[in-house]
Amino acid sequence: MGGSAVRHCGRCARRWYPQIVILNAIVPVAGFGTRLLPATKSQPKEMLPVARKPIVQYVAEELFSNGLRQILFVTGRGKSSIENHFDHDPELSRLLERTNKPELLEALNFSELDVKYFYTRQPVQKGLGDAILCGESFAGQNPFVVALGDSIIGLNGQSQLVARMVKLYGTHHAAAIVAVEEVPREEVRHYGIVDPASMEGDVIRVANLVEKPSVDDAPSNLAIAARYVFSPLIFDLIKQVEPDHRGEIQLTNAIQRMCEEGRRVLAVKLPTAERRFDIGNFPSYYETFLEFALADPDHGPELRERLRQLLGD
Ligand code: UTP
Repeated sequence: MGGSAVRHCGRCARRWYPQIVILNAIVPVAGFGTRLLPATKSQPKEMLPVARKPIVQYVAEELFSNGLRQILFVTGRGKSSIENHFDHDPELSRLLERTNKPELLEALNFSELDVKYFYTRQPVQKGLGDAILCGESFAGQNPFVVALGDSIIGLNGQSQLVARMVKLYGTHHAAAIVAVEEVPREEVRHYGIVDPASMEGDVIRVANLVEKPSVDDAPSNLAIAARYVFSPLIFDLIKQVEPDHRGEIQLTNAIQRMCEEGRRVLAVKLPTAERRFDIGNFPSYYETFLEFALADPDHGPELRERLRQLLGD
């Protein structure tokens, strides 16, 4: 759903692109989450709590607040708790009404958001590119958003980044927009890194991407950061990607092909206030949990005090 036709401005010769509306988002959540074992042996990493909510709830609420209205979760075996979480539970609601717990009822309001949830399975975990390909018939011929289910953007998911990316997609007639964040130079080997052709403010024209480069080979320290907007062209390009040495089909390779074909691929730099919280490994999961818990209006101050005691300050 979404998209729009190119028209001509009546008063001048310039072509203009009316504002694009994108309603569909694909959220891949099928990965094994091996870096978080044993916590993820029988539960999805995307359902691990960060302060009061599971990670994937922040992602869905962020997408809703950015105008997305249909979310496809690409799931796998052992991920049914995600579906249960977004399902309305009338029995639980009745219990909370009966026992007069309005604040807890309110905490369940997210399941009433004006969003339609869809689920499909990635039969074999063959990488992020393959997971996105599972959403081909959901997206149809329309542009769509991809949001990784294990990353939150902004404290408490408060971010309008995706809405800005969607707008840019329309005004720049792009084939893809990727979010990027600056990472310390010595960490570039963990990320897909952007080779920038030119930069205008926070918007970067991407010449190419390099997957997990060495410090010496990295063309920048701008790492791809969990949010994308794609033209449906991406599906054909994913189909052309050969599996890597681990048998995974990398989304980065498909975006590289877009660049090689000379299509317009842009990157948007995350501002500090909307930084990415990646919970895919223990150090950043711990940090994220702490930061969100410290921001909890009810229990944050108490936790801060306890931390001070623990740290002996
Ligand atoms: P990761 O690259 O972190 O992979 O996935 P992973 O398998 O989940 O984690 P590790 O490396 O084993 O610890 C980024 C996002 O893409 C999804 C994941 O669920 C996560 O939200 N993903 C990854 C899939 O949906 N399918 C895949 O085949 C791989």
